[in-house]
Amino acid sequence: MLGGISPRDRLIHALDGMESIERALNYVNTLGDTISFYKVGLELFATGQGYSLLAALGAQNKKVFLDLKLFDIPRTVGATVQQIRHHASFNYLTVYGDHASLAAAVDAAEGQFTILAVTVLTSVGAIQSGKMSDTVLRRTEDALNAGCGGIIASGQETSALRKRFGTAPLIITPGIRHQKTDDHKRTTSVEQALRAGADHIVIGRPIYQSTCPSQMANDIQKRIAAVCAHP
Ligand code: C5P
Repeated sequence: MLGGISPRDRLIHALDGMESIERALNYVNTLGDTISFYKVGLELFATGQGYSLLAALGAQNKKVFLDLKLFDIPRTVGATVQQIRHHASFNYLTVYGDHASLAAAVDAAEGQFTILAVTVLTSVGAIQSGKMSDTVLRRTEDALNAGCGGIIASGQETSALRKRFGTAPLIITPGIRHQKTDDHKRTTSVEQALRAGADHIVIGRPIYQSTCPSQMANDIQKRIAAVCAHP
């Protein structure tokens, strides 16, 4: 689980909280080589300049996780993924939904990027029926059967997912915190998430809201490197 992906690429920094792509690209410049992998979500896409941002990040050799969390009927999801494929190059795209919608997304990606399924958002503390871990396991099984390359899950479910599905599926873990200070209910630390088997951790606010984002990003990269050196 700790092999294959370079330690630096294990941190995916969420480019949220920026009102324009100019601001986002200035910010990316200030972080320099400390961050190699960015997550671009609905917030920056809604500026109308999402594809320009993806092209600019690609030109700087940054890897990109396009987190659009597409959710619709299979035909619409498939057609949307096809459109996105024609407009941009990136690494991962998120889709939310049932087996047929996920399978439509995988077909439309034509292997040019990896489709990741969202299981249960880490801002959700409890679900209406059954146990959270059962829901995450069931949705993961569905996603993998549909051909997805991996899933988004909280660090609290990762060990159980690794036990059941082995090392192959990508597991990406957001909701990385030391204390429960904001909207996430199912948080884990950098070390806990990686040791539980996450391939990547997604971190947004703890970096971009810190007083010195490049220092914070650097500190987190050192902690990731330490876990990778002594798994
Ligand atoms: O700022 P923070 O570290 O909470 O950033 C989390 C990022 O991860 C946000 O962009 C949010 O959209 C995303 N997220 C996610 N899936 C979850 C929880 C958060 O993609 N289950």
